[in-house]
Amino acid sequence: MTPTAKRSSHRTIIKATPTVRRPSCTGSLRQVGIVGLGACLPQRVVTNAELERMVKTSDAWIRSRTGIRERRLIEPGQATSDLAAPAALEAIKAAGLRPDEIELIVTGTTTPDTLCPSASCVIQDKVGAKRAGCFDVNAACAGFVYALSAAQGLVASGQYQNALVIGADVLSTIIDWTDRSTCVLFGDGAGAAVIAPVGRGGILASYLGTDGSGACHLQVPAGGSRIPASKHSVEQKQHFLKMNGSEVFKFAVRVMGEAAIVVLDRAGLKPEDVDLFIPHQANIRIIQAAMERLHLPIEKVYLNVEKYGNMSAASTIVALYEAAKAGRIKRGDIVVLVAFGAGLVWGATVIEW
Ligand code: UT7
Repeated sequence: MTPTAKRSSHRTIIKATPTVRRPSCTGSLRQVGIVGLGACLPQRVVTNAELERMVKTSDAWIRSRTGIRERRLIEPGQATSDLAAPAALEAIKAAGLRPDEIELIVTGTTTPDTLCPSASCVIQDKVGAKRAGCFDVNAACAGFVYALSAAQGLVASGQYQNALVIGADVLSTIIDWTDRSTCVLFGDGAGAAVIAPVGRGGILASYLGTDGSGACHLQVPAGGSRIPASKHSVEQKQHFLKMNGSEVFKFAVRVMGEAAIVVLDRAGLKPEDVDLFIPHQANIRIIQAAMERLHLPIEKVYLNVEKYGNMSAASTIVALYEAAKAGRIKRGDIVVLVAFGAGLVWGATVIEW
């Protein structure tokens, strides 16, 4: 279906999600926290002025509608693992581990180097994490939050001693650079976190949600099993990302606030307990609207959408990396990550730093 397909019923889904208090992630399981962070961004900066020369748009339109001034893009021939591997190595080093001590690699990505095998397999080889089991999570822009939740469960249960969790995407490779409604929004990037058992704090709660009936609003129609690659599919530009921007916008505004409230409730916390809110960096207007719903001042929000645009699965983890590097997060702080994306999916995590 194209983005113009009939409206889905996703408006009611989140309200139907039970918000009953759950045992926190720690429960009878091991407490798991982030013990190392890394990031890697392409060198090439593409400003709004450059896009003005490619499509009928303007710097003023892009800034006022999205908050984006510039984004980073990979060079032709580069792929997701070229950004993810350096980010991973930085995170492993920061955790005080050797690559061959990593036991699990979970990558949130929609743009793996190849459809098969997974990006995690390629990254494993590049970083030398020979002992790690590897798989990808396809949860679009919520990919890092989903990957973190999956890996956290596996480490908390004791099946693994640690995990390398990556959020990496190069959406520039699936963007139609003649479509002004999408090409101005996205950038490329990668971030990584090593998680392991911790003595205190760590990941307090996670919440993942999906409304597959909204899949038509944000999708790459071809290249999968429904429409395999063909001359026709390429001519029709069906391998590019198609988006119904206003539907995704409305969904995002609602879901960001609601997901934050659900995950905080699971952790036994309230919005006023949050020290730093790290939202998916898709559009400054979506973030501002979500903050109003949560009654959170914008000073408590980490923003980098202006510099990078929407880096899909890399957005939240790169923002977390930058916030930690900049000293915006102190020991004991409550940090909330919230993301949304194609699926439609949403996910949130509460971390005590
Ligand atoms: O991670 C999830 C990924 N996606 C998102 O988060 C996207 C969510 N949606 C959005 O951020 C916003 O809907 C957009 C930024 C995509 C669009 O903003 P909007 O305020 O919803 O604009 P609109 O779609 O209502 O379009 C307004 C006008 C249209 O022209 P007409 O029909 O009113 O004449 C568009 O054709 O703006 C036009 N337009 C542009 N004009 C200049 C659309 N893109 C551009 C552009 N430059 N790049």
